[in-house]
Amino acid sequence: MYLDALDHLTCPRHPEARLALLAGARIARDGAVERGRLRCPACGRVYPIAGGIADLLGPAPPDSPAQLTNYLPPTAWAYERLWRRHALTLLSGEPFGPERELPLVVGMAAPARGGLIVDVACSNGLYARALAQGLGAPGHVVGVDHAPPMLRQARAYARRAGLRISYVRARARALPFAAGSAAALAMGGSLNEIGDAPAALAELRRVCACDGRVAMMSLVRAATPAGRALQAVLGLGGIAFPPLDGLNRMVAAAGLRLRAEWRHRVVVFSLLTPGR
Ligand SMILES: C[S@@+](CC[C@H](N)C(=O)[O-])C[C@H]1O[C@@H](n2cnc3c(N)ncnc32)[C@H](O)[C@@H]1O
Repeated sequence: MYLDALDHLTCPRHPEARLALLAGARIARDGAVERGRLRCPACGRVYPIAGGIADLLGPAPPDSPAQLTNYLPPTAWAYERLWRRHALTLLSGEPFGPERELPLVVGMAAPARGGLIVDVACSNGLYARALAQGLGAPGHVVGVDHAPPMLRQARAYARRAGLRISYVRARARALPFAAGSAAALAMGGSLNEIGDAPAALAELRRVCACDGRVAMMSLVRAATPAGRALQAVLGLGGIAFPPLDGLNRMVAAAGLRLRAEWRHRVVVFSLLTPGR
């Protein structure tokens, strides 16, 4: 994480309490906090920063087999290298590489406005990097995930690309940011496996500024019997595929307003803003 993140990071248990960096931290010349400790002024909890990543979660086992796979270092290594760049093409049945997906996400999130931008359940930080490249005004991108190997890989990719992105370990249902503090939040393909989707959506709503945006890519229930059969098997591992109207109802129940939506077979992009 970078010193810039200190303007935004709060305690997951006390989301209005800004975390303070304790003395003795190892800070690189570019402002990367390599090692140190963050303290919550409300509860006194101390959270470690190691390898440049703040861990606001501590010992927390994954909730499902799907989540467990993301805790495995080979998954984190292979995720973007082998799967992610082909994923939407395979799932949508049309050419849909990152060169098509990322401008869509950046267009929805509008990072050119600057401010705090959060990639929720970021994996290797594909969206975080695109959003950081799209910053047009002072701002900072923070990637949040609960799986340490994913965060380590995300940090390595960002550093290789020369991008200042802070990576933080936390859960989607307890984001470490104050209410209304983010100009934009993105979440790509993660609502399906997050476990408690309504709670995660409520967090997106809480953290989003009143003039902010939420850019979401989700997978919905397949239309074909074969697609549904495959989704039923994946469901055993803890991945859920709601029907599109169910997804939109969940979004509305969280207090988010659907502004635009694009569907490509099971792949759905949603632009959301606070309000009903
Ligand atoms: C399908 S991948 C996300 C992909 C990424 N957003 C992208 O577009 O490449 C799902 C990610 O969500 C993370 N995840 C799952 N449940 C989570 C939770 N409850 N809190 C935080 N991260 C979670 C997993 O560790 C995994 O990295």
